Amino acid sequence: MSEVIRIERLKYYYNKGQEDEVLALNGIDLSIKSGEFIAVLGHNGSGKSTLAKMMNGLLIPDEGDVWVGSMSTKDPNYIWTIRQKVGMIFQNPDNQIVAPTVEEDVAFGLENLGVPSHEMRVRIDEALHLVGMETFKKFAPHLLSGGQKQRVAIAGILAMKPECIVLDEPTAMLDPMGRKTILNTVKDLNQREGVTTIYVTHFMEEAIEADRVVVLSEGQIVLMGKPREVFSRVQTIKALKLDVPEMTELAYELTREGLALTTDILTVEEMVQSLVAYSLDG
Ligand SMILES: Nc1ncnc2c1ncn2[C@@H]1O[C@H](COP(=O)(O)OP(=O)(O)OP(=O)(O)O)[C@@H](O)[C@H]1O
Ligand SMILES: [Mg+2]
Repeated sequence: MSEVIRIERLKYYYNKGQEDEVLALNGIDLSIKSGEFIAVLGHNGSGKSTLAKMMNGLLIPDEGDVWVGSMSTKDPNYIWTIRQKVGMIFQNPDNQIVAPTVEEDVAFGLENLGVPSHEMRVRIDEALHLVGMETFKKFAPHLLSGGQKQRVAIAGILAMKPECIVLDEPTAMLDPMGRKTILNTVKDLNQREGVTTIYVTHFMEEAIEADRVVVLSEGQIVLMGKPREVFSRVQTIKALKLDVPEMTELAYELTREGLALTTDILTVEEMVQSLVAYSLDG
């Protein structure tokens, strides 16, 4: 699989050289392959947003490098190409909507790219279709729910045909329904359209189906692997002040009470299977 983003020995300071200097990223190495879905976890202030902003050149490394394909984010000549290849979605949908109607909002990025208007029409329709918002084309964004606005923001990015999208806690401000539709939309785009996805979240359940989970602490990657490998390290995760998925937690507690369950349980279905197997054995 080809590599979309490569991060090498990356360090980043806020307020560098000042009294209130913060080392936000402290030696990150990470290679992201085309088509991967990576979930990024970590407690408050661990560096998740800083890392996300490094991936499309919103922040530039103090030490080390971030490569998007063969382009370094340090080279100002590449910055617009990089931003088109790697789209960003943030937490607050209201800050990302700029136009009076949904379709004009999706058009905004395309106008900046200089896409001809007939092609713009096609791309807007495609992008709104991909996020299930085509019937809202003429709507004013302020009439939409948070989840719907977030889907419009994603359509705006998709219309630019990125290779990769980075989402920084896109569901943090949404209700459970909105959260579910956003996660499903993003998963679909990854699976069906092959869009490489970096998904920052503090909801452990949202990371269960990722290809890889990256856990940050104090600006470093402290755990990385398949969700099952990472979440089975319950004590390590708790020591990092993070939770594990609900069913992993339950399996862990039951095991501590003496039930011989496997501790790499992630979902309700796996919990049911494990309990059935246990009761049959018993
Ligand atoms: N603009 C800034 N100026 C100074 N320090 C900052 C700034 N933004 C972040 N930091 C500091 O850098 C570190 C990493 O912050 P970052 O926002 O990347 O963490 P995070 O994992 O995204 O946190 P959260 O879960 O709260 O979103 C923290 O210590 C934070 O206080
Ligand atoms: Mg953050």
